[in-house]
Amino acid sequence: MFYNIKGYTYINFLGNGVYDQVGLYKKNNTNEYYAIKRINKNKAKHSKNYKYLYSELQILKKLNHENISKLIDIIDNEFQFDILIVMEYCHGFSLSKCLEYYKEKYAKPFTEEIVQYLTRQIVHGLIHIHEQNVIHRDLKLENIMVHFDNEMDKTNLNMMKGTIKIIDFGLSKLLSSSKEFAILLWEQFLILIQELSLLKIFNIVKKLIYGL
Ligand SMILES: Nc1ncnc2c1ncn2[C@@H]1O[C@H](COP(=O)(O)OP(=O)(O)O)[C@@H](O)[C@H]1O
Ligand SMILES: [Mg+2]
Repeated sequence: MFYNIKGYTYINFLGNGVYDQVGLYKKNNTNEYYAIKRINKNKAKHSKNYKYLYSELQILKKLNHENISKLIDIIDNEFQFDILIVMEYCHGFSLSKCLEYYKEKYAKPFTEEIVQYLTRQIVHGLIHIHEQNVIHRDLKLENIMVHFDNEMDKTNLNMMKGTIKIIDFGLSKLLSSSKEFAILLWEQFLILIQELSLLKIFNIVKKLIYGL
C-alpha cells in the first residue's frame, strides 16, 4: 500500500522486493518526479544486519555521478513505519526489460554500437562507486536502469539516447543476508574483485549482445 508522503504526492507503483517497495512521487508545487523506496522497519528489524542500514545509507549519499541514480534524501523518524529513501527517478526501463522490449519491437538484439555505448556508461558508474570505496554487491541487468529524456525516445527504445543509471545498492541483500555484515570484510573484498573483473562486465555484455 502506498500513501502520500509529506511534501510528495504518490503517482504510481514502480517495483518491489522483500523489504521494500518503490513508487513514483511528484514533489508538491514543483514539476519534479522522484522514485521513493520504502523500507519496512518491522520486517527489516528482524535482519541481523539492520544495525548497519543507517550507516550504509549515509555512505550511499556520498555517491554523485551521472550514471548512478542519486540518493537525494532519507526521510525517517521514530513515528514512521518505513524508512523513506528519495532517489532520482529514472524515466525508462531496466536493462533486462529494455532487451526484452527491444527484441519484441525490432526482432533483433542490441547492435554492437548500442552495447558499446551502454557498457561504457556502466563502467563509468562502477568506477565512481569503487572510487568512493563502495561496492555494489548486486550488479545485474535488473539493477541497471536506462533513463530517457523524453517520451518518444522511451517509446521507440532509442537506446543511443539513453543514460545508464545504476540502482539498488544491495540494501536488500544486506538485510537478507543471514551472516553478520561486519565479519564479511574479506567477502566484500571478493565481491569487489568480482565486480571489477572483466568476467562480470563480460557476462553483462554477453547478455546485452545475445539478449540472453
Ligand atoms: N530510481 C528509480 N527510478 C525508476 N524506477 C526505479 C528506481 N529505483 C527502483 N526502481 C524500480 O523498482 C524496482 C525495485 O527497485 P530496487 O532498488 O531494484 O529494489 P529491490 O530489487 O531491492 O526490491 C526496480 O527494478 C525498478 O523497476
Ligand atoms: Mg533490484
